[in-house]
Amino acid sequence: MRGLLIAFEGVDGAGKTTQAKRLVKRLSENGLQTRYTCEPTRSGPGRILRAIAYKGGVDARVEALLFAADRLIHLRRVIEPLLERGVIVVSDRYLHSSLAYQSVTTGNLMWVEEINRFARRPDLGLLLDVDPEVGLKRLRRKRTRFEDADFLKKVRERYLEYVERGELVRIDAARGPDEVFSEIVKVIEEALSRMG
Ligand code: TYD
Repeated sequence: MRGLLIAFEGVDGAGKTTQAKRLVKRLSENGLQTRYTCEPTRSGPGRILRAIAYKGGVDARVEALLFAADRLIHLRRVIEPLLERGVIVVSDRYLHSSLAYQSVTTGNLMWVEEINRFARRPDLGLLLDVDPEVGLKRLRRKRTRFEDADFLKKVRERYLEYVERGELVRIDAARGPDEVFSEIVKVIEEALSRMG
């Protein structure tokens, strides 16, 4: 059996990491082989992206290429081998992060789609949707360049366009973590039973 690629998406502070890790724990307890992973990764281009996240003066197009390169390496080295072994891979951010964030920073969604053409769509993409002002209040650490309410409002609009197109499932993430988790479990159970 081939595995399944589940992606968690949303603006900063939506609760992706908490919910993704919780889901991995739950599915593993239910006897399913599941692995947590995240983007940007912690090696190669991902490490560079993390290092420049707090600096200004980075060319948006160069950055978009680095995110796309990081994703392809992640896919080839980590995600695809796991899927081939039948593992459920839960990625904390994936393709739609670039489609949302880099389409705003570069102003060119078509180009961002193009440079990410070799990254397969996730089997299931969940958008943890929250007003960016609410999300930013949840972040207690130092903010990166991306963590600005006006910018994130545009990012959120982009994400919602992918919900309209049926590529992402919207989960209202303004609620408490337990309520959000229950809905995630419901959506995943439905998807698993649909995919047989
Ligand atoms: P984030 O998920 O906040 O990383 P962590 O919580 O592990 O430090 O990701 C860092 C930033 O990178 C975040 O503000 C969103 C941005 N980002 C993009 O702009 N495009 C992408 O394709 C990805 C994966 C992330």
